[in-house]
Amino acid sequence: MARKPRVVDIPSIGALDRAGGQLGRQLANALREAVRKGDLLPGDPLPSSRVLAQSLGIARGTVIEAFEQLLAEGVLETQQRAGTRVANSLAVPSQGESSRGRHAVIAQPLSPPARATAFAKVAQEFSPLPHVPFAVSVPVGSAQPGEAWRKLGNRIRSRGKGSPAGYGEPQGIRILREAVADNVRRSRSVRCSPDQIVITSGIQQALYLCCQILFEDGDEVWVEDPAYRGITAILEHVARGARVIRVPVDAEGIMVESGIAAGGQARAAFVTPSHQYPLGMPMSMARRNALLDWAGKHNAWIVEDDYDSELRYAGHPFPSLQGMDPIRVVYLGTFSKILFPSLRLGYAVVPEGLEAAFCGARVLMDRHPPDFDQHVLAAFINEGHLDRHVRRIRGVYAERREQLIEMIGRLVPPDIAWLQPSDQGMHVVLWLAHRVDDRAIVAALLAAGVAARPVSPMFSDGKGRPGLILGLGDFDRPRVEAAIRQLTAVLLAIGRA
Ligand SMILES: Cc1ncc(COP(=O)(O)O)c(C=O)c1O
Repeated sequence: MARKPRVVDIPSIGALDRAGGQLGRQLANALREAVRKGDLLPGDPLPSSRVLAQSLGIARGTVIEAFEQLLAEGVLETQQRAGTRVANSLAVPSQGESSRGRHAVIAQPLSPPARATAFAKVAQEFSPLPHVPFAVSVPVGSAQPGEAWRKLGNRIRSRGKGSPAGYGEPQGIRILREAVADNVRRSRSVRCSPDQIVITSGIQQALYLCCQILFEDGDEVWVEDPAYRGITAILEHVARGARVIRVPVDAEGIMVESGIAAGGQARAAFVTPSHQYPLGMPMSMARRNALLDWAGKHNAWIVEDDYDSELRYAGHPFPSLQGMDPIRVVYLGTFSKILFPSLRLGYAVVPEGLEAAFCGARVLMDRHPPDFDQHVLAAFINEGHLDRHVRRIRGVYAERREQLIEMIGRLVPPDIAWLQPSDQGMHVVLWLAHRVDDRAIVAALLAAGVAARPVSPMFSDGKGRPGLILGLGDFDRPRVEAAIRQLTAVLLAIGRA
């Protein structure tokens, strides 16, 4: 078991009343009270008599006198070399006991404001899925960056980069921004200089920043219908002044004409052109042109969420919207899918002139991204590992995808569920036939050890269709097959009910 760190300060001892005399007794009383209230727990090591005397500004002999009194009472105990600690034999104070006395006044819990309740629901909705099929983006085994990542981490740590330092650049370290600029130019035809890149804590933070910067309260904003809950939840709970216009999507992506009919004066449009989330189709060239044309005429920003375009298994990718119109498109990318989500590194490529605004909004959130992982990632990209890794995981996920589609076709009766066609990314959408609550299905699946996300909350009110997002984690064949059998059993049981 890890050793408990020594208690350094004991604020609840409070100031001793020097004029009142008998300091040893006062200190003993204060320590006894700290134990009774639970500020000090059984087993907590106390500071040495020398350190405590120094911090309280009293003689060491006075502290020793107090300790001896409490040792005699059994409140403290000493062990060889372990020093003085709160006696392990003491019971933890009961709820009732600790809420008496000074705390009794505040014992009534405050009722949280409505916003707090709403955010608590968001926390529930976004709670991470367990690492079981069909959690999205779970790089186990062959999909991990592996040895190269670990070695780079060791090398960078030993050279002192990312070691303790002062505050860093809100925009992210230059060497990573250069690597990202070069990478998105080559892979996505994004046109930018490293000065336009802001390293973020994933696309999620970049979406948040966009909502702080790109429009004012009262402005209309387009969001695809259905869309990623990460953007609709920000607009519901944080950027609440925006007037959100949900624009339907069809096989070609966002229906620009419908958007214009519903709110042609919008200031921003949030889109997922490479791979519509969650449905999976790319935005056609005609729609890209129509969207840029509308945005150009109405001075609107476009936020291009390019969350998983690296994982395309067939055909040739469309160039990014940003490359077609760099002055009005904010391009967002992430390393969550191609590396791993817990890395929490992504980036925004912002139009010239908006760099300072993004840095300012960023500083107020969390100053800047942690340095160390940025250095490791920059080296991973610059030394060619990222390109090799993406080529490798493309193969891994393409195989996992085919396997999943084949198993669903074989094991799930087509009258209860069927797949949405798509040819890229790290998830598939399984539509559900019954007019069931897909949230209830997800809860039943979780109880059976299977992970999924419901699709209906991604639609605007009244438009929801029940479906499940099934992620392509790197799980082996028997686990996936067992999970599909579980899924079928749950769907059949709920359908019968
Ligand atoms: C469409 C879409 N956008 C953004 C994100 C957020 O990704 P990140 O982990 O970079 O915050 C996700 C994550 O799944 C996503 O699916």
